[in-house]
Amino acid sequence: MPIAASPSPRRPIAPRALALLLLTTSVGAQETWTPNVPKTWDPTALEDFELPLARPEFSPRHIDPDHYAALPLRTVWRSYPVYHPDHEPEGYRDELRSKDPEPAFEPSDLHDQQDWIAAGRLVFHAPIDFDGPIFGPEQVLDPAWYEQFEVPTTTEGILPFARWVIREKGRLELGNLSCAMCHTRVLDDGTPVEGAQGNLPFEQLFAADIRRAAAPEPILRRVLGTLADVPWNDVQPSAKAPMTDLARQLEAIPPGVQLRQGTTLQAPARTPDLIGIADRRYLDATGFVRHRGIADLMRYAATNQGVDLLARYGDHVPATGTDQPPPPGEGWFTGTRDRYSDDQLYALALYIYSLTPPPNPHSLDDLARRGEQVFERESCTDCHPAPLYTSNQLVRAPGFRPPAEHFERYDVSRRRVDTDPELAMSTRRGTGYYKVPSLRGLWYRSPLGHSGSVKTLEEWFDPRRTDDDYVPSGFVPADPARRPVRGHRFGLDLSSDDKRALIAFLRTL
Ligand code: HEC
Ligand code: HEC
Repeated sequence: MPIAASPSPRRPIAPRALALLLLTTSVGAQETWTPNVPKTWDPTALEDFELPLARPEFSPRHIDPDHYAALPLRTVWRSYPVYHPDHEPEGYRDELRSKDPEPAFEPSDLHDQQDWIAAGRLVFHAPIDFDGPIFGPEQVLDPAWYEQFEVPTTTEGILPFARWVIREKGRLELGNLSCAMCHTRVLDDGTPVEGAQGNLPFEQLFAADIRRAAAPEPILRRVLGTLADVPWNDVQPSAKAPMTDLARQLEAIPPGVQLRQGTTLQAPARTPDLIGIADRRYLDATGFVRHRGIADLMRYAATNQGVDLLARYGDHVPATGTDQPPPPGEGWFTGTRDRYSDDQLYALALYIYSLTPPPNPHSLDDLARRGEQVFERESCTDCHPAPLYTSNQLVRAPGFRPPAEHFERYDVSRRRVDTDPELAMSTRRGTGYYKVPSLRGLWYRSPLGHSGSVKTLEEWFDPRRTDDDYVPSGFVPADPARRPVRGHRFGLDLSSDDKRALIAFLRTL
């Protein structure tokens, strides 16, 4: 069924999310809700919506408002589900091919908040690239591909990470790189959860592209460089290392962790759960982006779907590898040639605020209640206080000495957790900090930690994870292949009974 024709079941907006909306839309009561679309590329707000990088001289300087305004707008096309070949209805794609191209996002048709949220869901699913990268029609129509890469599909046999799109009559394209591609999780029972930590084996598929030379080597290197070059740190996958080594390093990145642009092969980022995001004051594992209201979430979506690649980090522009961005509309990299409209971003942000978690099968039974006491006794609440289970603070990574003014501008904890500093210190998203993540929704997400180094809570609280010869179950950089998961020693020395209870409690959140 096309999502354009049947918007998501109308979801109530969570109370805290609603409070944030009301704050930012300056409307008194829900009945009188009117859209109040902020300006995404507002020069004043852009000045401090991101934290400075650990080496502030390399903090991104974004394109100016004229350049932003000159980027062509993205069209949200009506799109259709992709089925596993064994589940595809007879004649399905032939029927799609006979359809007319149809823009699906039309602000003048949106009458109330629910309409805007439903339209935001279309933006969430809207591809920003076609017939690749990562995978294309050839892959999704081959049953062996799903088996080889353990690509999850829903109970209905749908691949929820990509969509069929008609932009030109008679031509069916596989659209990907939508928000849904990375931010959808298929649970073990086949339920898709939009907004949850994704579980498409993204980097395994990227590695496979490299191994089968899906594109010429110089192009693949440019892709890697655009994503992960940090020239001031001598990190340059675009220039160095044999291609097979790069593929091997990508293969070390499990589903739910990604070489998101601005991270590196040594320190990719765990895909966060977007459900409950209205309550989070900092976005990204490193707290790189401030979340002061809906406009910042809109800015986040704009930058992270390509516009950050046009920024200057020192004299390095990721989209070109030079000190200049391409002229508006001319970028070669996905997301750098066009942009979302403010209306699309506003609808998208409303949709993300409206997301609610799947029903939790874990109840607060006796064991979990005892675990709650352990949680309090062990002072986990200092950093993970109820009801959000995060203090929304930033914690300094080892080696980072913040300038004094940070303690006034940002909510910086005086405490430390001493987890691996690489992502915080050495990447284009590295602020020198890690934020305290919320512990809500732990039961349906994995892997854990800023780079997703462990897969289970049992392992997070296993003291062996800090041993020198420990091999974690989640992300481990390929070179060296073994790396202990250091830091965050809280709870490691509990008795096995207390640990069992604590974990049972955490799964109820
Ligand atoms: C290619 C995969 C990918 C795509 C596409 C993608 N994201 Fe993400 N997203 C990530 C990863 C990985 C992170 C974690 C980055 C970090 O921690 O530095 C992230 C982080 C975020 C965050 C920060 C959340 C938090 O609590 O820290 C938000 C918000 C977000 N994404 C929204 C979106 C939206 C909206 C879209 C579509 C417009 C989108 N993302 C597209 C992979 C993706
Ligand atoms: C001093 C602050 C602090 C204290 C105290 C603390 N944590 Fe954390 N916690 C953090 C930070 C910061 C992270 C993220 C670390 C990283 O990813 O590098 C984290 C991560 C976690 C994670 C992984 C969550 C995820 O989504 O990846 C769990 C689980 C967790 N903490 C549980 C606990 C429990 C249980 C306790 C008490 C036994 C506790 N924490 C005490 C700051 C703290």
